[in-house]
Amino acid sequence: MPASNVFLIDHPVIQTKLTELREISTEPRKFRALLNEIASLMVYEVTRSWPTKPRPIHTPMEPMTGCQLARPITLVPILRAGLGMADGVLRLLPDAHLGHLGVRRDEETLLPIAYYQKLPPNIAETEVLLIDPMLATGGSGAAAVTYLKQAGVSAMRFVCLVAAPEGITALHAQHPEIPIYCAAIDRQLNEKGYILPGLGDAGDRLFGT
Ligand code: PRP
Ligand code: URA
Repeated sequence: MPASNVFLIDHPVIQTKLTELREISTEPRKFRALLNEIASLMVYEVTRSWPTKPRPIHTPMEPMTGCQLARPITLVPILRAGLGMADGVLRLLPDAHLGHLGVRRDEETLLPIAYYQKLPPNIAETEVLLIDPMLATGGSGAAAVTYLKQAGVSAMRFVCLVAAPEGITALHAQHPEIPIYCAAIDRQLNEKGYILPGLGDAGDRLFGT
């Protein structure tokens, strides 16, 4: 049972694709395709409680009042590996604007180093999806959330594929109100801060580095 404000999306199609993604022999071309497919599938659950507003239209038969999403959307991938989910999310939310946050872990200290930020000017008025396949120590995710809050963002969800219990605890220690959506909560981190069983280094597997 996930902790509060943590949503585990354990749909069988997602779990099947995630297993293929984790498999060591899955090469970058397939890895990219699977990552985007899983991100697309997760969008349904991640956005389920987003508010809508009335939209009057005419069908070919008569007028009616339908609905549309109440607020514009901003997608913020954490570079690099978050880029691997962006096209998949955009497939379902093609009007979203994109911000980019460059954050990488220092390999010795495991602390996040922020190296790039570019956000749309109206981001504070939008629903924000912060995306990164991995939540390990939680350092990168927490730093990204802090930056977005400083930019005025109040409606934000963190979307990842694989979360470590340590990362969930660390992110929620700093930002308990931010919902975390994931496709798996794995066992633990190893001594180098990698998730077990995990999928290895997401950025390296995505880009072949
Ligand atoms: C990976 C991953 C997350 C981060 C998670 O990025 O994509 O951003 O590690 O680890 P954390 O929760 O311990 O901070 P990485 O730092 O490897 O950069 P990259 O995406 O450029 O490879
Ligand atoms: N970053 C990754 O890409 N994988 C891990 O297991 C941990 C951090």
